[in-house]
Amino acid sequence: MAVVSSAHSAIFSKTSLFHHINGFKRFSSCLPFSSSAAASLSSKKKWRQPVASSVLELGGIKIAKDDVVRDDPTNNVPDTIFSKLGMQLHRRNDHPIGILKNGIYEYFDTNYPTKFDKFDDLCPIVSVKQNFDDVLVPADHVSRSYNDTYYVDSQTVLRCHTSAHQAELLRRGHTHFLVTGDVYRRDSIDSTHYPVFHQMEGVRVFTPDIWEGSGLDPTSYAAEDLKKSLEGLARHLFGAVEMRWIDAYFPFTNPSYELEIYFKEKWMEVLGCGVMEQEILKSNGRLDSVAWAFGLGLERLAMVLFDIPDIRLFWTTDERFTSQFSEGQMGVKFKPFSKYPPCYKDMSFWINESFTENNLCEVIRGIAGDLVEEVSLIDNFTNKKGMTSHCYRIAYRSMERSLTDEEINNLQWNVREQVQKKLNVVLR
Ligand code: PHE
Repeated sequence: MAVVSSAHSAIFSKTSLFHHINGFKRFSSCLPFSSSAAASLSSKKKWRQPVASSVLELGGIKIAKDDVVRDDPTNNVPDTIFSKLGMQLHRRNDHPIGILKNGIYEYFDTNYPTKFDKFDDLCPIVSVKQNFDDVLVPADHVSRSYNDTYYVDSQTVLRCHTSAHQAELLRRGHTHFLVTGDVYRRDSIDSTHYPVFHQMEGVRVFTPDIWEGSGLDPTSYAAEDLKKSLEGLARHLFGAVEMRWIDAYFPFTNPSYELEIYFKEKWMEVLGCGVMEQEILKSNGRLDSVAWAFGLGLERLAMVLFDIPDIRLFWTTDERFTSQFSEGQMGVKFKPFSKYPPCYKDMSFWINESFTENNLCEVIRGIAGDLVEEVSLIDNFTNKKGMTSHCYRIAYRSMERSLTDEEINNLQWNVREQVQKKLNVVLR
């Protein structure tokens, strides 16, 4: 279900827990993660093609494909997701995601010289405890469901937000940090949703000597500092824009806010943030402190800053895309290369109780990969017998070339077959 108009808003801001049907082995070798502050790959290197091999190196740890993709009911990670695990777009200095990361680093380095520790290679395979429990996500929160999150096994997930690293970094004594990484969420398919995207988390801890004498209580002090810092960041990225603060909800912060900016005649959500729940600080050795935290989605901002119309473009190795960006060039406008025609195919079926749109989209992506641009529900009815039919329109379009009728017909044929088989629905 697409919940936002622009790439990935925070699922944690959803208060309703019961909309969706439904709801991880310990990679101790991933922890403690080897994180180099601001480590970056040489930007001169040619971008890597998607991994064909079945062993990845993440944060200095070797991960085999069958560590992550298993034929087991507690595992819902498809091959297509495994192939994204080592890509690390955020560590390429000449990729829009890496350029934006560096632009945000620049803001914090200028305003708080040498203060913020930077992490951008923490292992994306984390425990349920790190991803959810440590940041107080309730046991029945929708984000924990198999429908929304990729589970490696019942105790291990692909992180669905960079907040998964807050607790450990606090425990390790960090008081100012930025964590950038790839995050994974099961979702529907359209131009702003992709099952892998990138987030940056920021945390700043204040000790009593800092707020004492300010005349403010610690929470108000942290909230004011948070708003000032993030307004500065938004101006650094977007220039003199109008901004507003919206009250929000996250399990890990209180109070919580979203920052919106007025950009191209629309209010746009830039990030989620708030004053860290005291319990997180207390559990991680910071009993006397307060802290603020924020999380922002890099694709969402990069799409706006660089005029990138489709989230799939971030993953293309087509030189007509890659050659348009270079290190340090924030906000260079992307010039679309010719747009190839879309081809639409509809399919109708009777759904069953366990049917979800995320599962459908996963099957379709498993077959058509990035050739699928959008999947939309165009008809939905329930007959007298109580059977519900859904009709989905699939838009196929390559960003790189024209697709032949034969190719699309083959894809659609496979989609129909697999949807029927894997989702147990009855085609009409
Ligand atoms: N982790 C939140 C999300 O992905 C964003 C966030 C981070 C909000 C830190 C508040 C504080 O939805």
